[in-house]
Amino acid sequence: MLIDDIEYVIFCHPDLSAVRQFMVDFGLLDVGQQGSSLYLRAYGDAPFSYVTSQGEAAFVGMGFRVASEQALAQLAARFNADIEDCPHPGGGQYFHTVDPDGRRLEFVFGAQRLQTVPCGGAPIAWNDAHAKNRLGRYQRPEYAPSHIQRLGHLAVFSPAPQQMIEWYGENLGMKPSELIHDGNEANVLAAFMHLDKGAEWTDHHTLAIVGAAAPGLDHASFECRDFDDVGMGHMVMKDKQYQHRWGIGRHFHGSQIFDYWTDPAGFHVEHFADGDMVNEDTPPLSYPFGRDTLLQWGPDFPGL
Ligand SMILES: [Fe+2]
Repeated sequence: MLIDDIEYVIFCHPDLSAVRQFMVDFGLLDVGQQGSSLYLRAYGDAPFSYVTSQGEAAFVGMGFRVASEQALAQLAARFNADIEDCPHPGGGQYFHTVDPDGRRLEFVFGAQRLQTVPCGGAPIAWNDAHAKNRLGRYQRPEYAPSHIQRLGHLAVFSPAPQQMIEWYGENLGMKPSELIHDGNEANVLAAFMHLDKGAEWTDHHTLAIVGAAAPGLDHASFECRDFDDVGMGHMVMKDKQYQHRWGIGRHFHGSQIFDYWTDPAGFHVEHFADGDMVNEDTPPLSYPFGRDTLLQWGPDFPGL
């Protein structure tokens, strides 16, 4: 196994205080500023999940948590890169490179893990019609921003999705869980790629690659504590009059409960809960594009 997980997303924003407030209201915690870079963490043990630097608005790339020191050396040799001390919070060793679309990729091993931040309320004891699990207690989640546990995935645009699928497969060992095609299976429009962790369960997608005219970011997605955490997070963001993009619904690919918001620079970020898990025994699937490939229930995708 080369990679444990995606760990952080890298942006530039012209107004750091505006994006800081937005992301805190969205459910991250401020770690502080180092020079011109602003770091935010989630409630999980990652040193940070989001970094943005002062500058023209840009999606820069992503950071991965490498599985071992050997894997870091192996990956660095593959990319002919030098391993250095990681300058980010948590430290450790790292190197950086770019993919064929020019996205920055950082690979970190040995960063110090943080104490998780308790957020209470979980797990929800559901009173399903056929199984009553919450007896004599009321379900009253706190009115508060979402309690984001971790960065879950990125969905990136690429002008050459097939080439990008192969590149991430060959170089990072990612595998498609599901593909979307244009009616001809050879013409792939989008791919939902998971990390190769063998028999170990991993997210249905850590990286979604979506065909588009130019490289870019569709969204960065953060895992919330649970269903209520997505819904209550929606209320808080709505009350603060942030720009809503799409939701709440349940996706088809990955099955997440989803809700999308747009940050002050126009980048989309997603809250999700209850995503699918896959492993080496999960067969890859392929579907023609259609409304059904976007969601199972919820409001229509804006513009479709
Ligand atoms: Fe997503």
